[in-house]
Amino acid sequence: MSSRPSAKPAAPAPSSKVKTLTIDDRLVSAREDESILDAARDNGIQIPTLCNLDGLTPVGACRLCMVEVKGSSRLFASCVTMVGEGMEVVTDSERLQKYRKTIVELLFSERNHVCAVCVSNGHCELQNLAQLLGVTHLTVPYLNPKLPVDASHERFVNDHNRCVLCQRCVRVCGEVEGAHTWDINGRGIGARVITDLNQPWGSSETCTGCGKCVQVCPTGALTEKGKSVREMSKRTRFLPYLTMMREDRSE
Ligand code: FES
Repeated sequence: MSSRPSAKPAAPAPSSKVKTLTIDDRLVSAREDESILDAARDNGIQIPTLCNLDGLTPVGACRLCMVEVKGSSRLFASCVTMVGEGMEVVTDSERLQKYRKTIVELLFSERNHVCAVCVSNGHCELQNLAQLLGVTHLTVPYLNPKLPVDASHERFVNDHNRCVLCQRCVRVCGEVEGAHTWDINGRGIGARVITDLNQPWGSSETCTGCGKCVQVCPTGALTEKGKSVREMSKRTRFLPYLTMMREDRSE
């Protein structure tokens, strides 16, 4: 005799538990599924970030949000590290400042970030970070690579010289627009953002031309055509709204 499936509705998922921890000696509480970065921000503690953006899945690409956790000698990317009971987190120290400065220096040295002639000059998150961290010059050599500029799209430009490989374009295109046009090709210093199967952006068959990738790009890598130096400011505030709408629809 076959047993009939139970008509009992599935039990609701248990609500997430609360964890208590200290961040910079302040006792805070957070949901167990919250990252250290979010818990810090909820409590007014700012940690520098570059690849992170509200509304997109965190990937821990830039490592600027590193924090110290007492009891461990290694550093943790706070955007992808969940809070834990009794954790003691330090978000600012001489060691962290040194690492963050070095990361920003390496980003500047790896490509050609010439702010004076950049369309995003004055509206650039990398430039803001350099100012915040006091990066006035580089202690590592510039690599001065010869990188292409893809202006094949009728409305947008992709300048590889300004790209920091934060992957925001890849994530917004896949997670919010659902087009999956962008991806990363290659590894390490040879890594590049690409459209479709590494073809010119203008000939992409998946790009919808929505421009979300341009708006979330933290630097002058993805910009609108026709902008001159300092004119390109990004509009990132639409993202949390879009994510909220998507969640409402799926309920
Ligand atoms: Fe956490 Fe980039 S913001 S690694």
